[in-house]
Amino acid sequence: MVNENFSAERLKFIKPSAIRRMIDLSAGMKNVIHLEQGEPDFTTPEHILAAAKKAMDEGYTHYTQTPGMLELREAVSEKLSRENGIDVDPKTEVVIVSGTQETMAIAALAFLNPGDRALVLEPYYPAYFEDTLIAGAVPVPVPLNEKEGYRVDPEELEKRIDSRTKMIWMCSPSNPTGHVFTKEDLEIIAEVAKKHNLLIFSDEIYEKLIYDDAKHISIGSLPDAEDRTITVNGFSKAYAMTGWRIGYAAAKGVLAREINKLHYYMVLCPSSIAQKAALAALTGPQDCVEKMRKEYDRRRKAVLKELEKIPEVSFVRPKGAFYVFPDFSRLKKDDENLAKGLLERMGVCTAPGSGFGESGRGHLRISYSAPYELVVEGISRIVAALNKI
Ligand SMILES: Cc1ncc(COP(=O)(O)O)c(C=O)c1O
Repeated sequence: MVNENFSAERLKFIKPSAIRRMIDLSAGMKNVIHLEQGEPDFTTPEHILAAAKKAMDEGYTHYTQTPGMLELREAVSEKLSRENGIDVDPKTEVVIVSGTQETMAIAALAFLNPGDRALVLEPYYPAYFEDTLIAGAVPVPVPLNEKEGYRVDPEELEKRIDSRTKMIWMCSPSNPTGHVFTKEDLEIIAEVAKKHNLLIFSDEIYEKLIYDDAKHISIGSLPDAEDRTITVNGFSKAYAMTGWRIGYAAAKGVLAREINKLHYYMVLCPSSIAQKAALAALTGPQDCVEKMRKEYDRRRKAVLKELEKIPEVSFVRPKGAFYVFPDFSRLKKDDENLAKGLLERMGVCTAPGSGFGESGRGHLRISYSAPYELVVEGISRIVAALNKI
């Protein structure tokens, strides 16, 4: 009989994502406002769609090279040099992947041995934690202090490092907090990584969604980090291309080579049509990105204005991505129950904060990637419900 005894040991450790669980719970419910997913509501910009249609018409329907079309790798390399201060050889140090998510499994499997340890800056994007477990390694959360605006404390990093520590997982701008790491914080991480000879996995998928006075800096551009950083990015968020499954990893020398080795056995190569679309995204007009960013900013301000109406709720003003991560614990300790209650009673779906690490307990992740009117209605319902507690 086929039963769970067939499942590999590693699956026993894997938790289903908190976001997925909420989506499953909301299935079949009517008039739910979805603020749990980080899914741009915009359609992919017209010139990108046109490039994909043209690619199909011109017969780009075959396998490409495993690391992707050279033309796209060159465009990525130019972009990284121009915008991020990262210099990588397009021939050997850029790998086009089937979505940024693929790079997390690859990085864990390529660089972590069973029993190795990897620091995860917390609150974290759950795949860093789970992929570390899939590799048989040990994720070691480093809770960032919310009261100090998620600043990085070198001592907090140092005290969790031992001889088995190999890597640091990080994301700036952050999912779930929207925090944008400062240059000082990045320098601390780079310095610690160099001192202990650690790799840095830097997920920069939200780099284009920056607000107020914040500035995105790539840790891979810092001298202490340039040889040890795997910089990953994708087209899903900046260009509203979640369904295209296309992104890239850039890293020096052997790192990129090893990534490409696993990439071959995982996907063979990324979609040829999506690569042509990504090329148009990178080399075409960028005003579409700015237009979407401005609209996210409008929604962000509306959400923050509503949240400020509840004095018991605290939050760090997000300056990036499209999430806010308020702490509701003074009103309700259990974030799972809070999220379930808001869904069942108010018809608003959010993600419980504990799904992003222990220090997220008592928080909710609220995404403002849904249309403005829905975001405003959703947050008003949340505030109305909390005012009754
Ligand atoms: C931090 C972060 N990295 C990566 C991804 C996945 O990106 P992609 O669509 O490129 O696989 C997400 C999606 O929500 C994300 O929030």
